[in-house]
Amino acid sequence: MTRSAWLALAVAALVAAISVAHASPPPLKVGFYKHSCPLAEEIVRNAVRRGIAREPGVGAGLIRMHFHDCFVCGCDGSILLDSTPGHPAEKDSPANNPSMRGFDVIDDAKAVLEAHCPRTVSCADIVAFAARDGAYLAGGIDYKVPSGRRDGRVSIEDEVLDNNVPGPTFNVSELVASFKRKGLSFDDMVTLSGAHTIGRSHCSSFTQRLYNFSGQVGRTDPSFDPAYAEHLKRQCPWPSSNEQMDPTVVPLDIVTPESFDNQYFKNVLAHKVPFTSDQTLLDNPRTAGVVHFHAAVAKAWQIKFAAAMIKMGKVEVLTGYEGEIREKCFVVNHY
Ligand code: HEM
Ligand SMILES: *[C@@H]1O[C@H](CO)[C@@H](O)[C@H](O)[C@H]1NC(C)=O
Repeated sequence: MTRSAWLALAVAALVAAISVAHASPPPLKVGFYKHSCPLAEEIVRNAVRRGIAREPGVGAGLIRMHFHDCFVCGCDGSILLDSTPGHPAEKDSPANNPSMRGFDVIDDAKAVLEAHCPRTVSCADIVAFAARDGAYLAGGIDYKVPSGRRDGRVSIEDEVLDNNVPGPTFNVSELVASFKRKGLSFDDMVTLSGAHTIGRSHCSSFTQRLYNFSGQVGRTDPSFDPAYAEHLKRQCPWPSSNEQMDPTVVPLDIVTPESFDNQYFKNVLAHKVPFTSDQTLLDNPRTAGVVHFHAAVAKAWQIKFAAAMIKMGKVEVLTGYEGEIREKCFVVNHY
């Protein structure tokens, strides 16, 4: 063969290798940082511990953060990026600002990780680990998180509420459709909604259900337990002077607000949950069946929750040579 023929062959082989790499980026795997950063998961867990010591509810915030990250542009850490002039990011969507908490925990973990193993652990993986740790520290659920996610470089505010993150006024068919778009089943949806067994909500996420149900002024959603509705009204008067900025919050689980148990499902059955999106799980026989099962068998819900979190954590991930490993979680790398 001539020299140029060899060269052509080599180039063809290279192109083939690259396209194979593109066709099948590697899957996530448990222990991805075992050799490159052995302490990675321990460092994240310690940062979550410190965060919870400062603000106990931040563990709940981190579980929610992983959900909102995965549902917009995949689990790629895009929720962590700050807006830049003229480019409002996911973080500033009304679904996240001002209610999302835990960003400081991610930044804390990242700073320690960069000191130990620079440019090795992705921000998207930190969020996935931190969500697991939030659940673990609130109730002893522990599970192994497959990792190896890479960080995205794009974050667009409008994408959050545009057919991605579901809203608290959604009915069961809208919820099922929303999760289906991410490859998640109605069972995954009900199971993951059980995360509302901890954490809090701002009044604005449900006052419409208390005071303006179906657009009728003064009407309360009849699917509320009446005493529970009165209880919420006392805490959340209407109309507040500035709905969006009203800092008043109520616990999502009125019975055991701080423990990661199956009480949420019992609350749904008792009609003592703040959101339409919680109560509506009884409106469909299949989702209602899952609610009854989780309310009855605590251990089954725990195991299913871990599995569903792992499944959610794989939604549209970047791996291999896709994306990047950010140096700081709130800004893309500058080359
Ligand atoms: C099924 C659709 C869902 C809807 C409509 C929904 C909606 C909401 C809303 C409106 C809040 C309150 C935000 C605020 O006003 O402060 C909230 C809080 C929360 N959500 Fe969801 N959520 C859903 C599913 C999930 C999932 C899948 C998870 C995680 C697996 C999750 C975890 C949480 C947690 C832990 C909180 C408390 C956050 C905190 O205390 O900072 N939610 N959710
Ligand atoms: C849910 O909401 C959608 C859109 O508003 C509506 O078309 C649908 O009929 C509702 N489904 C149920 C079960 O109420």
